[in-house]
Amino acid sequence: MRLLLAILLLWTVTANAATPQALYSESCAHCHTPGISGAPKLGDRSEWSQRIRPGMKLLYQAAINGVPNTTMTARGGHREMSDADIRAIVDFMIAAAALPKSTLTAAARYDALGITDREFIRLDSNFDGALKPAEIKHDRALAGGFSRFDRNRDGKLDVSEYQALEMQLERERAAVTVDDAQLVAMVRTALRALPAFPEKEVKIEAVSGAVVLSGVVPGAAEARRAWLATRRIAGIKTLDNRLVSGELLAWD
Ligand code: HEC
Repeated sequence: MRLLLAILLLWTVTANAATPQALYSESCAHCHTPGISGAPKLGDRSEWSQRIRPGMKLLYQAAINGVPNTTMTARGGHREMSDADIRAIVDFMIAAAALPKSTLTAAARYDALGITDREFIRLDSNFDGALKPAEIKHDRALAGGFSRFDRNRDGKLDVSEYQALEMQLERERAAVTVDDAQLVAMVRTALRALPAFPEKEVKIEAVSGAVVLSGVVPGAAEARRAWLATRRIAGIKTLDNRLVSGELLAWD
């Protein structure tokens, strides 16, 4: 009798446990198999080798929390899925890309650093876990604060030094008071200066220095460019980027 019960129990457990592949097919495949609206395509080795570079933790985090301004919403829109399910699906997606061992090792090395600040990682172009002057020279505000915030004087910014610098820049930006209409005009000018940017699609609102960008732009890259071009404008107390990718609308 006890054996029968055990078999019955085992049968129910296995019958209910969907494989990562089945979960993927059910919940993620409609975007990731064709690779629509900028979704990294299943099995696309070069795309996934870029995505994995900051480490698995960040990939899991993106799948669980979503990627802002894209159709990648939290858990691909499946709130019923557990963190463990999502991690198993991401593992399945990575396995499907059959990445070279060297890529997996490099990702694991970055993972071990425990850095999850996406902006820092984007800037860290050689993925060594620190920012050298050459890696931030294109951002004048960061470059200007470098020596002040390299507190241990080792010639690079670690993640806490970088975050302290970003916070200081935000405080300086918010300490300036600019009339809302003028702030809108300044943001508009910054967007207009971006090459091949659909500036007319962007609605800009400012209320007591709280700026909101909204509208539909062709891709997540444009939403990011808009944010990069405006985030340092003095007088902005908070910047809320609600631009969404136009591919969202093409998708039904
Ligand atoms: C509605 C379409 C859609 C669905 C459904 C969807 N994704 Fe995505 N996913 C995207 C898009 C678009 C991106 C690229 C976002 C960007 O620009 O970085 C993405 C990116 C990702 C990434 C890479 C994130 C990074 O940090 O680079 C992972 C991992 C991922 N998805 C996992 C999943 C999993 C797991 C599911 C199912 C539970 C899922 N996605 C369902 C559209 C989708």
